[in-house]
Amino acid sequence: MIRFLDLAAQYHELKTEIDLAVARVLESGQFIGGHEVTALEEEFAAYSGARHGVACNSGTSALHLALLAAGIQPGDEVITVPFTFYATVAAIGYVGATPVFVDIDPATFNIDPSKIEAAITSRTRAILLVHLYGQCADMDPILDIARRHKLVVIEDAAQAHGAEYRGRRAGSIGDIACFSFYPTKNLGAAGEGGMLTTNNLEYARTAALLRSWGEEQRQRYRPRLKGFNYRLPALQAAILRVKLPRLEHWIDARRAFAAEYDRLLQHASITRPHALAGGRHVYCLYTIRVADRDALQQGLEAAGIQSAVHYPLPIHLMPAYTDARYKAGDFPAAEECARTVLSLPMHSHLTLSQVEQVASEICALSSKKNHEPVVSRR
Ligand SMILES: Cc1ncc(COP(=O)(O)O)c(C=O)c1O
Repeated sequence: MIRFLDLAAQYHELKTEIDLAVARVLESGQFIGGHEVTALEEEFAAYSGARHGVACNSGTSALHLALLAAGIQPGDEVITVPFTFYATVAAIGYVGATPVFVDIDPATFNIDPSKIEAAITSRTRAILLVHLYGQCADMDPILDIARRHKLVVIEDAAQAHGAEYRGRRAGSIGDIACFSFYPTKNLGAAGEGGMLTTNNLEYARTAALLRSWGEEQRQRYRPRLKGFNYRLPALQAAILRVKLPRLEHWIDARRAFAAEYDRLLQHASITRPHALAGGRHVYCLYTIRVADRDALQQGLEAAGIQSAVHYPLPIHLMPAYTDARYKAGDFPAAEECARTVLSLPMHSHLTLSQVEQVASEICALSSKKNHEPVVSRR
């Protein structure tokens, strides 16, 4: 059996240090806030090239806090993509704003910058873009559009810790960025967790207040703002601090496995993920496209190889997110990707021989059936 993910492997690699960190927090009695959380904020912000970090209890909370800190209000419009994990879009709803979808570039799975301006209205306040699967969106044209139209740029970097775009790191390219430490992410907690990063002190202060009931740190029960209980537990911060120094090493491993998949799959009848020149894709997911996706997934499963579909429906076609403004056919690239994407086993503790087995199975299966690539690569 080749597993899609191996979450215990990271623990085994760092067991002694993680056990010590957990014991340290338990002995301290400081379970909420305190040194572990502020140290993680500083260390992760520095890693991402940002001045400020605000730890919180999930990537979804980070998105909610980012939109609030940026002053997004009911009636405002926020441009985003229909091909993402739905937390991106849900968070826009939490502040009462309206998501406005822009289709993706099927080669990169990220927002197509050439389609953004047509979606801007007098009510547009922000662009909430996603660095999907671990690759940064094409930021320069996006930043240019945002500057010209005075829009806030929020990065959903939930899948992109350490990803780079022309020398800049995810988390410090837009105005605010949101990370998830959900266990399956490249940097994952032993539970839920998230972080907002920004170079803007005002945004960081507002997000830090809202994260903890609107209270200043030493002024309990006198909230300055109506806030939330979105705090990151100190135990999670301590575990993440042990893992963070290993992240670069784990990213290198993922990139090496991705390069091997690329090499071994170059003649298979599938479309490989396209990494933008001048960037660093961190392969939170290695996602191919294939016309007969479900048959390939079943074939892999029969051979003992796990795979996953991220995501089988674009947001505008999800019954829970139905919106009278949108219908099937409105976002052809997102819809095509939802029909054809398949994520292959990818984690920092995979082995080259497992990558070879997966690739050879895909080559065999895709030559038996005609899994023609469906959308041409750039
Ligand atoms: C693109 C994206 N945005 C937001 C989130 C939400 O993060 P969390 O699960 O930590 O709330 C995720 C997590 O899966 C994600 O993949």
